[in-house]
Amino acid sequence: MKIQGSKAIVVGGASGMARATAELLVRDGGAVAILDRPGSRGAEVAAALGGGAKFYPCDVTDFEGTEKAIKAAASDLGAVHFGVNTAGGGIAKRTMSKDGPHPLDQFRAVVDLNLIASFNIARLQAEAMTRNQPDENGERGVILMTASIAAFEGQIGQVAYSAAKAGIAGMTLTMARDLGSLGIRVMTIAPSLFDTGLTHGIPQQMADGLTRDAAFPKRMGQPREYALLARAIFENPMINGSTYRLDAGQRFSPR
Ligand SMILES: NC(=O)c1ccc[n+]([C@@H]2O[C@H](COP(=O)([O-])OP(=O)(O)OC[C@H]3O[C@@H](n4cnc5c(N)ncnc54)[C@H](O)[C@@H]3O)[C@@H](O)[C@H]2O)c1
Repeated sequence: MKIQGSKAIVVGGASGMARATAELLVRDGGAVAILDRPGSRGAEVAAALGGGAKFYPCDVTDFEGTEKAIKAAASDLGAVHFGVNTAGGGIAKRTMSKDGPHPLDQFRAVVDLNLIASFNIARLQAEAMTRNQPDENGERGVILMTASIAAFEGQIGQVAYSAAKAGIAGMTLTMARDLGSLGIRVMTIAPSLFDTGLTHGIPQQMADGLTRDAAFPKRMGQPREYALLARAIFENPMINGSTYRLDAGQRFSPR
């Protein structure tokens, strides 16, 4: 789909990879709504973006509050062509440790934040996209979710995060099939270690260790590199139903 003149809802857009994607969309002539936590820098980021970008505070684990924020953003934008979602995160906890078995409530909280919230956002973005007139390729919109390479090779202590991100990867093709007849594509990006707000403060030595198994380049990814793949996905009608690794050939080792 064309980015010029498009409208996007960018969840997690106050920082990192989603912010870089919002910047690229606005630069290429799109309009964006930034959804992020109330305490985030969303308002500041939206103002700096220009192009009439507005901030809609919401916590994605408040599913009803997120529904209201998405509906308000869709109504203000007048249409939704692209959905980007990066809100997420994990905890470090093993299946069994000296403290006992992994607490179920903590496992569920990670699944809520990454998997249930991603589905909630995607289903509501899809609803908004159904109101679009199809473009010359029959397309109404593209939904982009964010997993992690931990979906495929989670490290020790990432069991909840791996399960949640694997859930996102697992629902991508099914959702694309569900929405195909509506002209809506669905994709997921699975990044390796990226230099964002989430990883801010990781000591260089640790970052070097976590990227040493990459083929090339052996470094953290930059938010703009996520945005470049997001744009390629939006613009290319043949890209659908897959989870693309964005990882410099990295495979996580057990720790
Ligand atoms: N940075 C990495 O190394 C890396 C690697 C693989 C996957 N990921 C995934 O990328 C996403 C994080 O993006 P980033 O790395 O650009 O980090 P980031 O911290 O720079 O940006 C994430 C944004 O999401 C927002 N957010 C977090 N929880 C939220 C919630 N409950 N409700 C609303 N907004 C919320 C944050 O406020 C932040 O602005 C996560 O889904 C993470 O699992 C990150």
